[in-house]
Order: sequence, then C-alpha cells, then structure tokens
Amino acid sequence: VTKGLKDHYKAYFPIGVAVSPRSLTGADAELIIQQFNSLTPENAMKMGPIHPEENRYNWTPADSIVNFAQRHGMKVRGHALCWHEQTPAWLFKDAAGNTVTKEVLLSRLKDHITTVVNRYKGKIYAWDVVNEAVDDDSTRVLRNSLWHQICGDEYIVKAFEYAHAADPNAVLFYNDYNTERPEKRERVYKLLKKLVEAKVPVHGVGLQAHWSIYEPSENELRTAIEKFASLGLKIQFTELDISVYPWEKNRRAKTANDADAFTPKLEQQQLEQYKKVFRIFREYKNVVTGVTCWGISDRYTWLDEYPVPGRKNYPTLFDKDRKPKKAFEAVVGF
Ligand code: XIL
Repeated sequence: VTKGLKDHYKAYFPIGVAVSPRSLTGADAELIIQQFNSLTPENAMKMGPIHPEENRYNWTPADSIVNFAQRHGMKVRGHALCWHEQTPAWLFKDAAGNTVTKEVLLSRLKDHITTVVNRYKGKIYAWDVVNEAVDDDSTRVLRNSLWHQICGDEYIVKAFEYAHAADPNAVLFYNDYNTERPEKRERVYKLLKKLVEAKVPVHGVGLQAHWSIYEPSENELRTAIEKFASLGLKIQFTELDISVYPWEKNRRAKTANDADAFTPKLEQQQLEQYKKVFRIFREYKNVVTGVTCWGISDRYTWLDEYPVPGRKNYPTLFDKDRKPKKAFEAVVGF
C-alpha cells in the first residue's frame, strides 16, 4: 500500500489508532506511520496505569506514545481521565482503609486531572474526560459506580471543569459505548443535554464504536449522529472495531470453531459493515472530527481476550500479517 488511510481521508478527518508503547517499534510502527495520523494510548493514560500511587505517576509509557506522535507529526487523543475501570487501588480508600468522602475524592480527581492534562498541554488536542458514566439498563441514567456512589452526579461536571481549567484549548469529550442502541442513546443524550444546558465545558461526544458485523444499522447510526450533533457537539468515533461475533452472544458462546473462524462469508459481511459506516462518517464530515481504530491489525486485538478469553477475533482493517484486508479496500474505495 502506498497511500494510507490517513491520506485517503485527508479531506475528511484524522484517522487514529489505539497503541501501546510496545507497538511503537518494528513492523507495527511502520504500519502505524504509513496509515494513521492520530494516536490514542490504549491503556497507558488510564488512571490505574499512569497514577499507581497517590504520590507517584508512571509517565514513561504515556510519554513514549506522545513523543512518538510528536516525532511523526501525529495528533494524540488522551484517554481517559475519569472512568470506573482500571482505577488505582488507593483511589477510593483512605489510609485506614475506609471509603473516602466526596470532598476527598473530588480533590483527588482534581489533582489527577490537573497534573496529567498539564503535562501534555499543547501535545494532546482532545481528551476523553469522562468515560462510560451512563448505565446500561433503562432504570437509571448514570451508572452506579464508586464515583457515583461517593460523589453523586457532580463528579462529571467537576471532571470537565478541572480539565478545562488545566488546558482551555483541549477539546473535551464524553465517551461511551453502545450509543447507537436506542435506550443507551437516549440516556447518553439526557446526560449531555443537561451538561450543555448548564454550560459545562464539554465539546464533543466520543462514540466508541465497538461494533459487530450485525450492528449498528444504518438508521441507528444516522439517528445517533444527528441526535448528538443537535446539541452542538462534535462527534468522534473513538474506538472503532467490527467484531465478527454478535456482542450479546459473545458472553455465552465459546466453541472450538471460534478458534479460526474468519470465513469468506464473515469477511464479506465485515467488508460491508466497514464500507457502510465509513460512507456515513464521510457524509457527516461537518460534525465528525475524528475516527480512531481500536487496534492496528488482527495480529493482536483486545477482542481476542474480551469478552470471551482466548477466542480469536478479526475486527480490524489489517490481517494477522498486517496486510490490508478486503474491508480496507472497501473503506478507501470511494
Ligand atoms: C480496553 C483495552 O483495549 C484493553 O487492553 C484493556 O485490557 C481493557 O480496556 N472501552 C474503553 C477502552 O474505553 O479503554 C477499553 O480498552 C475498551 C472498552
């Protein structure tokens, strides 16, 4: 391939990829440089990895990603400042092992966000400030996480305010998954509407796009984009991958056949799904300001481990030998 994804999409939006420091050398690095012009640290900037003890930050992995991006003229999306997963052990407890108060937790959140955002000021153009705060079932809007149990709704507003104060130029995102499914979409919309109306500094919504060959439908995707855009927010697809398994059945199914199952039929279905979603992204280029792939190639992806450990998946645009798949050709052939 002589022309990368980023070149084909020059007139549209940056094309990013999730990386670990390991992927910044050798064949992965070559592919990254050839194809992408934006990086997201897959794990290195999450609170657990980057802030393992209250008074210690682990900057090395995150720095290496930001430095690589700078050397190669790429953008960086920071991910993620406030999330209920991959949190450090110390975060919700005091020295005696009791759950901290709201005041203490908010002051820890402020220290964390201020320190991390400050360090990469001018080098990270967009941050996922709050990740996955909305619940999956329809009885409540917000997830019943420790953040919410201890602070109530307020931690979300605070997180955006702290980030904005630390870097007024950064584009701040609320990021979540399954945002095309009607019930989740409505709950995310409710949260965002409230934030926007309260003039909280939220500038965009990150739709993770952990999709499959079965969903979303064209109509679901369009509806989600239009609904969120109607709030005046920019939209980025922040963690795109297209699983060859249905997400819901994922939780149960693990068969021997799953081990090597990238059949021509699946290849065709995946190609069509990729082609469709990129066509829609292009149509909405006035509001879609970035698309990031959650994985470089099928050689390694988090979906090999999640949600069914050990089941191989084939969700990216490049195969196990890092060669462009048919889906790649479909995405750039317009
Ligand atoms: C995943 C990473 O890809 C894995 O390596 C890690 O073990 C777990 O987290 N939503 C998110 C991402 O916002 O941070 C998650 O990344 C995938 C789901």
